[in-house]
Amino acid sequence: MPISDTQPVATTLPARYYTDPDLFRDELERFYCKTWICAGRANQVPMPGDYFLREVAGESIIITRDGSDVLQSFFNVCRHRGTRICAGSEGHFAGRIQCGYHGWTYGLDGKLIGAPHAQESICRENYPLNRVHAAVWDGHIFINLSPEPTPLACQLEDLPKMFLHWNMAGLRMHRRIQYEVKANWKLIMLNYNECLHCPILHPALSAITDYLSGENAEPHRGYIGGTMKFQGGAKTMSKDGKLRRDYLPGLNAHERSRVYYYAVFPNLLLSLHPDYVMTHTLWPRAVDRTDVICEWHFHPDEMVKANFEADDAVEFWDITNREDWAISELSQAGIKSRVHKPGPYSRCESLPHAFDQMVLDRENQERKKQVR
Ligand code: FES
Ligand SMILES: [Fe+2]
Repeated sequence: MPISDTQPVATTLPARYYTDPDLFRDELERFYCKTWICAGRANQVPMPGDYFLREVAGESIIITRDGSDVLQSFFNVCRHRGTRICAGSEGHFAGRIQCGYHGWTYGLDGKLIGAPHAQESICRENYPLNRVHAAVWDGHIFINLSPEPTPLACQLEDLPKMFLHWNMAGLRMHRRIQYEVKANWKLIMLNYNECLHCPILHPALSAITDYLSGENAEPHRGYIGGTMKFQGGAKTMSKDGKLRRDYLPGLNAHERSRVYYYAVFPNLLLSLHPDYVMTHTLWPRAVDRTDVICEWHFHPDEMVKANFEADDAVEFWDITNREDWAISELSQAGIKSRVHKPGPYSRCESLPHAFDQMVLDRENQERKKQVR
């Protein structure tokens, strides 16, 4: 039945959700400091002492592996006088983490093991690095800045079971590209979750997948997503749709015939292809600026082949990414206009609408908690 203007229509969120710095700060707390966020991949820190940093809500977070092979995460803040300990974005600790100011030294498990000239009376057990909770799902590292988070499994719901066949933990990263997008993080989420724009914005993508073939899964509390089928003989998302790598082992005929696009709130976009996996993680920097880290992960058996090729997939998505970032930046620019008012969503935009509802629901829940 056609939607008439007299019926209530779902609309986009008011402009302030994309332009108000105070609302942005509240959202950072709500989504990026109190829930699990995807920080990277477990194989970024294969050896004890390997580390990388992530910046979230103005905090610098260390992610490393200790001598017992346990993933560890800490605030990058010395317990002596608060100095940021690591400056480099990644590297290797030689068995310990030492502050460059006065030499306070911590084990890879965060315990204080040395404090030069500290008074005898201070109890070292009282000064470990401030811990950040870390957990791994199928090779993806998640961190949670809240002191007592609910288990990661609760946030992921049925995703681990649903994507078991891709065995993501067994894949290796081939390429990473970092983008700086002048748009609010939610606009990037909204853009990822609909393909109504594909025929206009992505001619290359539209040649190999049918934007109307999308089948959306029922929106969940922690994620939204769906699948899209290949068309015209295409077998994967690449410049010409040609399959240049074997299918990922474990995928059935159904899973080989489409791409799975899932947004795992708040910051992971998972694009599961028949022969590789692409991930985006979103890192909000300001109300109108987001860093996006995009990575392409392949099966190691393919990567060691002499004729291994990946440029077809990387270049295809790099072009598509840039098209999406450019339109997201134009959205950001237009939304802040004095004349802009929320516009109507079509039926093809049910996932963006579900995302908006999730944003509002969490805001309401937070408000209720504060009132109590
Ligand atoms: S601030 Fe780190 S050792 Fe003094
Ligand atoms: Fe797009």
